[in-house]
Amino acid sequence: MSTVKAGIIGFGYMGNFHLRRTREIQEIQIVAAHDIQEEKLMNARQEGLRAYDRLEDFLSDEEIALVFICTPNNVHASLSIACLNAGKHVMCEKPVTMNVPELEQVIAAAKKANRLFTCHQNRRWDTDFLMVKQAVDSGVIGHVTSLQNRVYGQRGVCFGWRADPKAGGGMLYDWGIHLIDQCLCLFEGRRVESVYARLQSILTPAVDDSFELQMGFDNGVCAKVQVGTFCLQDLPRWFVYGDRGTLKIDDFTGKTGGMARIRGNVQGFDSVFGKNIGPSRTMAPLKPEYLETLPLPHAESDPCAYHRNLAAAVRGEETLYVSFDDMRRDMTIVDLAFESSRKNEVIKTRV
Ligand SMILES: NC(=O)c1ccc[n+]([C@@H]2O[C@H](COP(=O)([O-])OP(=O)(O)OC[C@H]3O[C@@H](n4cnc5c(N)ncnc54)[C@H](O)[C@@H]3O)[C@@H](O)[C@H]2O)c1
Repeated sequence: MSTVKAGIIGFGYMGNFHLRRTREIQEIQIVAAHDIQEEKLMNARQEGLRAYDRLEDFLSDEEIALVFICTPNNVHASLSIACLNAGKHVMCEKPVTMNVPELEQVIAAAKKANRLFTCHQNRRWDTDFLMVKQAVDSGVIGHVTSLQNRVYGQRGVCFGWRADPKAGGGMLYDWGIHLIDQCLCLFEGRRVESVYARLQSILTPAVDDSFELQMGFDNGVCAKVQVGTFCLQDLPRWFVYGDRGTLKIDDFTGKTGGMARIRGNVQGFDSVFGKNIGPSRTMAPLKPEYLETLPLPHAESDPCAYHRNLAAAVRGEETLYVSFDDMRRDMTIVDLAFESSRKNEVIKTRV
């Protein structure tokens, strides 16, 4: 098996992440980096990489077959096209571009150059997501009817270029794209029929530091994505309703939460009486004997799976995990979410 030689554009947080991750596997070796900051180039040299301050010199390095683009979001498209035109395969960080028209230009460049182009939708390999996927696919809580997929932090203020709208800042691009991609992966083969979003700027004025987004699928599922940077109480990472039970996962570790379902074929469940449960009793707790408490779904994540697939695709041995169509669907939902929030309307679609 030959090792794919690669370079990194943007040697900040994610550039370093890809360097470390590829050092865990044989299939990819990072040999060079390009950045516009001298400090980052020094870091690259300390890591034993060839460091280029000029993009043209980086692109002329013939040893580089694959480029990891890890810059702020607004230059993803132009850098991807430059790399593809130079004959390199490209893996671009999320969000792959700023919008669908930009993405189509990059896809056209990839097709013309006959080179691979994909995006780092790595949260498909998160343990918590794999647990939810397992619950959805197995039907352990029945047919899933709705879910909440959320990430809330406390700091409030978006940091660095993430607070700059020109750089592609804001939480819809930052976290939204991951959670949207996860929701689309949960219901493979299904289409999104409607999108409604409300973007807000609570403590970072220029960008959305908080948003809610609702996707209606053609199988009736309502998937809600919620992201906020200023939340001082814990909410579960996932809440999944099925027609036979409910799943809750507290955080990214997937270690705590709960899953329960109705036992056997019980119908018309009786409630526990004697409590102050209101006149309709609809919201009353069930008799404990009707309930089956289950262990949380089990999932094992392979943190190197994405990079191994990337290398195998460059060698022509595997299909990329994140396809053109996957990227188109993710970016279409992002575009529609911005439109929905601007117009305060539900946008009908078929994505
Ligand atoms: N997949 C994930 O889990 C994940 C996590 C964090 C960030 N990201 C994505 O990775 C990208 C980078 O984020 P980060 O947190 O590493 O940012 P960062 O600020 O830590 O690093 C960005 C680097 O890009 C460099 N840069 C800026 N413009 C450039 C240009 N035109 N040419 C070359 N270099 C340039 C900067 O000097 C900096 O070193 C973003 O697109 C972000 O959305 C993905």
